[in-house]
Amino acid sequence: MPKQKTTFSCSECTYKTVRWLGCCPECRGWDTFTEITPTTISPSKKSCGRSASLVHLDAVTSKPQKRMLSGISEWDRVVGGGIMPSSLLILTGDPGIGKSTLLLQISDKLSKNYTVFYFSTEESLQQVRLRAQRLRCGNELLFSDQAGLASILATAQQAKPDLVIIDSIQNCYTEGQTFPGSIGQLREAAFHLMRLAKEHNITVIVSGHINKEGNIAGPKALEHMVDGVFYLQGEDRFQTRVLRSVKNRFGTINELGFFEMHESGLQEVPNINEHLLSELSHSPGSALVSVIEGSRPLLLELQALTIQSKLAMPQRVVSGLEHKQVVLIAAILEKYLQVRLSAHDIFFKVSGGFKIKGSSTDLGIALALLSSYFQQPLPEKSIILGEISLTGQIKPINQVNLFIREAEKFGIEQVLVARNQKLEKTSCRANRFQNVYELLSLFPE
Ligand code: TYD
Ligand code: MG
Repeated sequence: MPKQKTTFSCSECTYKTVRWLGCCPECRGWDTFTEITPTTISPSKKSCGRSASLVHLDAVTSKPQKRMLSGISEWDRVVGGGIMPSSLLILTGDPGIGKSTLLLQISDKLSKNYTVFYFSTEESLQQVRLRAQRLRCGNELLFSDQAGLASILATAQQAKPDLVIIDSIQNCYTEGQTFPGSIGQLREAAFHLMRLAKEHNITVIVSGHINKEGNIAGPKALEHMVDGVFYLQGEDRFQTRVLRSVKNRFGTINELGFFEMHESGLQEVPNINEHLLSELSHSPGSALVSVIEGSRPLLLELQALTIQSKLAMPQRVVSGLEHKQVVLIAAILEKYLQVRLSAHDIFFKVSGGFKIKGSSTDLGIALALLSSYFQQPLPEKSIILGEISLTGQIKPINQVNLFIREAEKFGIEQVLVARNQKLEKTSCRANRFQNVYELLSLFPE
């Protein structure tokens, strides 16, 4: 057999060349080229060179696949009603958000009915043991700290477990390849794991980190190669964790699951709105709004604090919302209502550490600001749903009835909306406003 030539590949963008280069002509990265020795993982001899057999679709027998249910219903729902067997899923999120915790809890539950192999490529078995003790789980799981892709594949192909967990794919290395975590290596790992899933009927779940820009470090490039991509999100300061499906070949996307991180691991929050409303305060600066997250309406409290500034350039500290949106609404209020917000520091946040977008919260932002400015709370048990135009007009929003129906379930009695907002029949009393001037009627003192 003729000797195959070695090639060099950029570890950042996988650009290939036959000789070593200092700077990559594709991504301009320096010192990124590493040598690739061919035939790192040999294709199975069985499939090599065989001609493919062609069939009509009628001849393909399709047995309904029984999904793998963990019993952790927030997870089961987000993955589309249990994991589809033989699929390759990726769970991603910031370091420390709880991916390993969630994977361990899920695999523990699944191990009651399925054989599960857990490859911890990042942490030692001692570390995994400590976590498992903390979570009181893991008795029926089989663990390994093997990080070499070839041996993970070989172990799985021989023993044929139902489920393989790899935590994380970035730390999985391919012998003779570029260093772990490079895009080329991630792609190669994903390719072989996909084959493991499809050809050997083994379900595979891998974890992957997100980088500062919010991309799964590299695996944005993997999204098209896997069956499902799930993000675990949240803020360190808050216990709430949101599991979001952004791609799912076997379920709906943008489905959300809610958890809370506790001493003993992640606990499900089955009714998130009840949970969020239990923390609602009826104090100046607090306004209840609703946004669609995934496929469900969330009831969220906006919290504003305005305070006369001692600085020449007053502060605007906003979290959970677009900074510009709050600044714009403050400018509209100042222009039309002569409230001196430009001389006030403004602190603004969304309860529970949620990040929300969209103009349907404009009216809520305005009322939270005014409520703090005038030191008067908004009407009790009310929800605020409206957009504000640059000319100070209150505008109707979409899906308002969905929000009201959800709010009604939790005892909300009044809805603050645009004058021309169309509403279905509801037990909520509508308080309508045409423009921002009319908002002052809510602050009589
Ligand atoms: P981990 O699952 O290791 O995160 P990731 O795999 O995404 O990097 O979780 C790390 C954090 O979670 C760590 O700060 C400790 C905290 N934690 C708890 O609060 N309770 C627990 O039961 C566990 C296992 C972790
Ligand atoms: Mg981890």
